[in-house]
This record gives sequence, C-alpha cells and structure tokens, in this order.
Amino acid sequence: MPSANLNVMIKAARKAARGLVKDFREVENLQVSVKGAGDFVTRADREAERVIKEELRGARPNYGWLGEETGAEPGEDPTRRWIVDPLDGTTNFLHGMPHWGISIALEHKGEIVAGVIFDPVKDELFWAEKGEGGWMNDTRLRVSGRRKMAEAVFATGVPWGGSRELPALLRDLARVSPQTAGIRRWGSAALDLAYVAAGRFDGYWERGVHAHDVAAGIILVREAGGFVEGLTPGESPLESGGIVCANTQLFGTLAETLREA
Ligand code: IPD
Repeated sequence: MPSANLNVMIKAARKAARGLVKDFREVENLQVSVKGAGDFVTRADREAERVIKEELRGARPNYGWLGEETGAEPGEDPTRRWIVDPLDGTTNFLHGMPHWGISIALEHKGEIVAGVIFDPVKDELFWAEKGEGGWMNDTRLRVSGRRKMAEAVFATGVPWGGSRELPALLRDLARVSPQTAGIRRWGSAALDLAYVAAGRFDGYWERGVHAHDVAAGIILVREAGGFVEGLTPGESPLESGGIVCANTQLFGTLAETLREA
C-alpha cells in the first residue's frame, strides 16, 4: 500500500500527465509548427510543473521544493523537499517520440525516501518507498539477474550542444561498450533508471545529470535491489553530477571501468 505521501505524488503525476499527453498528441500529429515547437514544449513543461507544484505544495505546504523549471524554494520544514522534473525526455517529446516521463521524489534529511516516475504514453507508473520495495503498476520491481558483462545492456546519456562532458563519455564508451551486449541512449534519465529497476537495462551511467533528473530513479533502483552511487566514489549521485547504477553482480565491474576511464 502506498503511503499518504506517495498517494499525493501519484495524484500529482497523473494530473500533470493529462495535460502533457494532450500536448504530446499535438506535437505528434504535427499540429504544432516546427518553428514554434520549442516554445510550445517549454510551455507544456512549465504548465506541468505548475500543476505538480500546486498539488504537492497544496497537500504539504511546509515541505521545500526543487523543480527543474522553477528552481529551489526552502520550506518551513528544512528536512523535507520535493525534487521534481515535470518532463524528463524533453527532446523526445519535442520530436514526437513516445519516451518521456514525469519524475517526482521526496527527500528527507538528504536521502530520497519516495519516488514516482510516470510514463503516461505507455501507462507505466513506477514507484518506490524506502524499505517498502518498488512497483511498476501491479508488478514488483526487481533489477536483472544477469551476471556477465557480455550479456548486459546498459543505458547512458550522450551530451549535446557544446557540453564539456563529450570526451569523457567517448572514453567511457570505448571501455564499456566492447565488454557488453549493447549500449542504449533513449533520452530520459528518469526512465533509464526506472528500466534498471525493472530489470530491462542491466545498468545505467551518465555524466552531467541534475538532481531532478535522477532523484526518483535512485530510490526505484535501490528498492529493486540494485546499487546506485555517484561516479566519483563517496559523492552523492544527487550532487556529484555523475551517476552509475546496476544490478549487484555487475555494479562493481561497471563502476570500476567508468572510474578508470
Ligand atoms: C534530460 C534527459 C536525458 C539526459 C539529460 C537530461 P530533460 O532531461 O533525462 O536523457 O541525458 O542529462 O538533462 O532535459 O529532458 O528533463
């Protein structure tokens, strides 16, 4: 049974999803001019954050807030805050590709204690709570059991624009890719993590991610039995800007390979 906080998070995600799905159908059916698509999606993203914020802060007015669009706002309760990405996978959304989601996490004393990631196009709702396990709709989340790198499929993110992370990612790929069955770049860090939790990907890493991209996914992977760390040993994946996760058998090899690179 989800807790009261989790129910609030799920309600907020479902409410924001209704508007996003409507907007996505317009992008998909080319009802938005190519020239204006960027602005249209920015508006959809902001509106989704507004809806989520209204729901979450309406239900828990004293919690703090960190949202992709509206940034950080302290709450009366300094120990708890919502960490929200209203639309993760924005570029996919903009291109009419049905792989994006809403990510909502609850942090307590610096630790993520609940997370919801909702992919409304596929109707997949991932959620987890500390100590309670994780679920995708009615199915229990469990990381994969693969033990061999040669059978593993990992997800990552590829920097775009003029990002300084590109040389490091190319080094990562040169070291990791030859050992594996494949690397995927699907364009939503939140769903990459949810898919690790669901045993679809065997692991995931990315450099240059933000707390709002990964917060909810961190607890999904942990509650599904996987390991998650910052790419720099000892640093929190929420703060270091680099994250690595995998099932327990493959985590060591993946993390070591990346840290050597
Ligand atoms: C991005 C996506 C992408 C990842 C980037 C994120 P956004 O989030 O999760 O997969 O590679 O690092 O910033 O911008 O779509 O919310």
